[in-house]
Amino acid sequence: MKILVTGGLGYIGSHFAVCAIQASKEIVIVDSLENSSLKVLDAIESITGTRPVFYQGKVQDRELMTQVFNAHSFDSVVHFAGYKAVGESTKEPLMYYQNNVAGSAVLMDMMKEYGVNKLVFSSSATVYGVPEFVPYTESHRIAPFNVYGHSKAMTEVMMQGLCEAQPDWSAIALRYFNPVGAHESGDLGEDPKGIPNNLMPFITKVAVGELAELGVFGDDYDTVDGTGVRDYLHVMDLAEGHLKALSWLDANKGFKAVNLGTGNGMSVLQMVESFERVNGVKVPYSIKPRRDGDLPAFWADASLAKELFDWQANRTLDDMMRDSWHWQSRHPRGYQS
Ligand code: UFG
Repeated sequence: MKILVTGGLGYIGSHFAVCAIQASKEIVIVDSLENSSLKVLDAIESITGTRPVFYQGKVQDRELMTQVFNAHSFDSVVHFAGYKAVGESTKEPLMYYQNNVAGSAVLMDMMKEYGVNKLVFSSSATVYGVPEFVPYTESHRIAPFNVYGHSKAMTEVMMQGLCEAQPDWSAIALRYFNPVGAHESGDLGEDPKGIPNNLMPFITKVAVGELAELGVFGDDYDTVDGTGVRDYLHVMDLAEGHLKALSWLDANKGFKAVNLGTGNGMSVLQMVESFERVNGVKVPYSIKPRRDGDLPAFWADASLAKELFDWQANRTLDDMMRDSWHWQSRHPRGYQS
């Protein structure tokens, strides 16, 4: 049961790596280190007692991937590697299509060549675009409105086409909502380079004193308190979802897209209040204008994941807050400290 994990040193990939090793899977990681660090490999080893085989490089590097596929006989692939900054994707569309779409095409081509026909892919709730209804179900219209979202939707379309053309293939695109939290050890977590784009790492960096205050992007949405509402889920629940998806691939054929979320929406101010309450740390904030391209509110209908492969998010909002802070307070400068 050898699994190729692309992007296995990133935030979500590394938490999956720990879950997979602890579930007695053998994993091989390919990661470019563009948005991650070799220290993550040390953290995975210190938590699990196993240091996964690691190759540095990009999935669209055919020479590297040929070397990897020649050296290992894989049962399946979990594909996390990709760029994920929405704003950057709008400025550098070709970079995103090259890396996320062309990279995925190379990966699937290699899998086909080497007879590996089970794939789990990191997709995103952003593929749905402006909600026609919430919670989003998987049958919601696909209408991304940024390049990042298109790159995820295009990869899903490639997967679906391949599964239709190759009846022995099975593939799942997991549409993530908003992952937060960290491994309970406090030694594995989210470590964005520079100023974070996302809410949770921004909150923890304010709490640790690296940033002065949180800007809350808009308080005049039609939501519980006027601030944006999202479906935050614990990264360990998300990681475990990939193991369950892999079991589905073992027993089924064809393509599925599946939401992974809790099914609950929380506002920005509710997140700040929970963080302060659980951790006893203040997070100064001020209200700023709305952020371009932000949606007011969305959350998941997560019933398909439950029905297909018996997954549901088990960890609470308090767990998310505690574990995010445990990680940041133990490692104030992320993997540098
Ligand atoms: N927010 C703030 N201040 C900040 C950062 C965020 O108020 O400094 C607010 C946003 O306006 C939004 C909420 O917090 O209401 C969540 O914002 P995030 O940036 O954390 O998450 P998004 O839902 O905007 O985006 C995330 C991922 C995307 C993905 C999208 C949909 O970052 O990659 O979910 O799945 F596309």
